[in-house]
Amino acid sequence: MKRLQDKVALVTGGGRGIGRAISLRLADEGAKVAIADILAEEASQVVAEITQNGGHAIVVTTDVTSLEQVRACVQHVTDTWGQVDVLVNNAGWDKLEPFADSKPETWDKVMAINLRGPISFCHAVIPQMIARKSGKIISISSDAGRVGSTGEAVYSACKAGIIGFSKTLARELARAKVNVNVVCPGPTETPLLQGIAGGSAGAKVIDAMTRAVPFRRLGQPDEIAAAVAFFASPDADFVTGQTLSVSGGLTMAG
Ligand SMILES: NC(=O)c1ccc[n+]([C@@H]2O[C@H](COP(=O)([O-])OP(=O)(O)OC[C@H]3O[C@@H](n4cnc5c(N)ncnc54)[C@H](O)[C@@H]3O)[C@@H](O)[C@H]2O)c1
Repeated sequence: MKRLQDKVALVTGGGRGIGRAISLRLADEGAKVAIADILAEEASQVVAEITQNGGHAIVVTTDVTSLEQVRACVQHVTDTWGQVDVLVNNAGWDKLEPFADSKPETWDKVMAINLRGPISFCHAVIPQMIARKSGKIISISSDAGRVGSTGEAVYSACKAGIIGFSKTLARELARAKVNVNVVCPGPTETPLLQGIAGGSAGAKVIDAMTRAVPFRRLGQPDEIAAAVAFFASPDADFVTGQTLSVSGGLTMAG
């Protein structure tokens, strides 16, 4: 019996990078997977991969910054498969620059995607989880939210915000048997990292990031997906309000 047999998972930003790996892994564990992303084409490719492997998946083109679209997405998945058992808030974005040089429009975009997006999705999905007394919410934060990261001030604020938000939600929803946990990747090989570290200084940035990791390498999306699959599964039924770094030892929290 697969750990997520017949469960319905909704993964934001599942079209590429870490979200793609999470979608494939949850499908492999038996879940039906709805991918909410602005990149419809990339998301369709992931759906095709899952379907070819005998799984079930759909794309729900959604911008996480729009509460209206978020609500419509949760409604669509619920109409299609009856419910949402697992929510993975993974969609994220950042622009690497010194805070002193940053513009308010960039702060707004970073906060809308990385903080308000997960808050909106949680608000849209929890009524049905509370009613069923069952559900798993996993949000992808970042080690940047635990220890800071040069050039990522507002992003780090959002990622730290996700941790505090999730702990509070974990307390509020414990009575309803809904588990809320956070996974913090360190530098992980994805299009986002390539984009952030692009340009002439890119190789240097990646080199410096790698040297800061005790394991001396970047993370792979599959390694983040494995932690998400654990939190989504019955193996984590008694685990809530926790923050797990998957970062080769970059952050060692007490
Ligand atoms: N890659 C890293 O080094 C790293 C490190 C720590 C945390 N993270 C976090 O992991 C998560 C995934 O990052 P990634 O590296 O795979 O990034 P990525 O850019 O490769 O993928 C992000 C996905 O989110 C989607 N997305 C972005 N904005 C969206 C929006 N408004 N609405 C819907 N979807 C949207 C993108 O289309 C994309 O499919 C993010 O939350 C990121 O902050 C990544």
